[in-house]
Amino acid sequence: MRLRKVDWLFVLAAALVVLFVSLLPSPRDRNPPVPRTPDHQGLVSEKDCLRCHVAGGPRPLPGRHPKRQDCWRCHKVAMD
Ligand code: HEC
Ligand code: HEC
Repeated sequence: MRLRKVDWLFVLAAALVVLFVSLLPSPRDRNPPVPRTPDHQGLVSEKDCLRCHVAGGPRPLPGRHPKRQDCWRCHKVAMD
């Protein structure tokens, strides 16, 4: 099978996208860590985070915050 020129361009574009994404900084290192406050001690489930970090809760998430539930993927717990 012979590839046309546009097919090669497509493959090249896809490869560039993959390269670009793999070079993005790993999110966990740069995001605000979970502070060591009494509120954050003894939390065992990411579901607990939403008791406070919801709209209407004591500390709502900013509007542009990612709509994801795997909090610990991006916020490591501060260890000090
Ligand atoms: C009992 C309420 C409560 C619960 C539950 C809670 N938080 Fe918080 N969180 C707060 C409050 C209040 C602050 C602000 C603390 C401060 O600024 O001193 C805060 C701050 C944060 C911050 C830092 C924000 C910043 O500006 O640096 C992160 C990150 C965070 N929480 C993540 C989490 C995660 C992840 C969980 C679940 C494991 C969680 N929180 C559970 C009340 C809560
Ligand atoms: C995809 C990565 C990612 C996930 C998953 C994630 N966050 Fe965040 N979060 C961020 C980033 C990035 C910021 C900093 C946003 C900014 O500075 O505007 C942030 C900021 C925060 C803050 C600080 C908001 C403030 O008042 O300044 C809190 C609290 C927080 N996240 C809690 C949570 C909780 C709770 C969850 C799980 C429900 C969660 N995050 C899941 C990336 C994530």
